[in-house]
Amino acid sequence: MYNSKITGMGMYVPDNVVTNKDLTSLMDTSHEWIIERTGIEERRHIKKGDGNTTATMGVKAAKIAIERADIDKNDIDLILFATLSPDYYFPGSGVIVQQHLEIPTCPAMDIRNQCSGFIYALATADQFIKTGMYKNILIIGSENHSGGLDMTTRGRGVSVIFGDGAGAVVLSRSEDPNKGILSTHLHSEGQFAEELALIGPSTNRWVPEILEANDPTDISYYPNMNGQLVFKNAVVRFSEVIMEGLQQNKMTPEQIDMLIPHQANLRISQFIQRKFGLNDDQVYNNIMRYGNTTAGSIPIAMTEAWEEGKIKSGNLVVLAAFGSGFTWGSALIQF
Ligand SMILES: CC(C)(COP(=O)(O)OP(=O)(O)OC[C@H]1O[C@@H](n2cnc3c(N)ncnc32)[C@H](O)[C@@H]1OP(=O)(O)O)[C@@H](O)C(=O)NCCC(=O)NCCS
Repeated sequence: MYNSKITGMGMYVPDNVVTNKDLTSLMDTSHEWIIERTGIEERRHIKKGDGNTTATMGVKAAKIAIERADIDKNDIDLILFATLSPDYYFPGSGVIVQQHLEIPTCPAMDIRNQCSGFIYALATADQFIKTGMYKNILIIGSENHSGGLDMTTRGRGVSVIFGDGAGAVVLSRSEDPNKGILSTHLHSEGQFAEELALIGPSTNRWVPEILEANDPTDISYYPNMNGQLVFKNAVVRFSEVIMEGLQQNKMTPEQIDMLIPHQANLRISQFIQRKFGLNDDQVYNNIMRYGNTTAGSIPIAMTEAWEEGKIKSGNLVVLAAFGSGFTWGSALIQF
């Protein structure tokens, strides 16, 4: 069995900053409400015509990760692309990345596990590397939320939370048994599938059917979220899945050098921090600046933490996520 380690990381967010104050001109909300409930101060939104899509943001992040991994793009054996907002209904965004990177052939696969998507992709890549099937895997988490949010007072409970952006890592084969991904832990609970979801258009509600109904009250093409149910489940599942990872590796919370929670909501991250008795310098948050970028949030945060010198060789880094599905997961990484 081989080991797998992160050899390069990159991130990209659009230039266009949307502050809480900017949102008040579109909907009945306030900086104070958003800050108090979510901790978000601003987020990035793609601007029409700026050339950004879910895949192209992923490409920008990927190019940085590939350069830092010091490999040739043609050494990539597999592309894994995590998103809930793919460029097209089909094909997946992984092949669009392949097209832009001009990698002639290699497998490319989309992972559809929303806020947990990056951890699901990392776990998948880890298996391919540990078994010896692949040497270098490009993993991208990217979201273009802004174009599909209800930016009116009707949609304010959801739309103030989400932002656009992408992160990427290269996961590579390593023969050092003491470094790399120690373990990954994945869970889902489908009974809550519709509690944080975008129901239509879909194969349950094809576009012609929606158009024919011509129902002005039909807002099924916007995401809906049972915010309080999500919050309650998130704090429980985050805690469980972090503990599961620590226990499997016979470790304790004090050994965590850096916890990078999916940036769902600053209040959720602060709850987890208190629960595990972690200091401010043991938890990385950037939701204040980017909002919730779903599959992009962990690789964006991990890249920033690394760039700021907050992840160093020898550190134990714990990643954890919870989101739509419901799905949740964690990964323990020895850098
Ligand atoms: C979304 C969330 C911030 C809403 O906070 P909340 O305290 O549950 O608020 P509620 O939905 O109960 O709404 C409370 C009031 O604020 C209002 N409100 C909702 N969004 C608002 C906004 N952006 N600005 C101002 N008021 C808002 C509601 O209309 C409601 O008004 P009412 O009491 O007059 O009916 C909170 O539920 C949450 O953080 N949930 C988890 C979300 C999450 O992490 N999602 C990502 C999953 S990965």
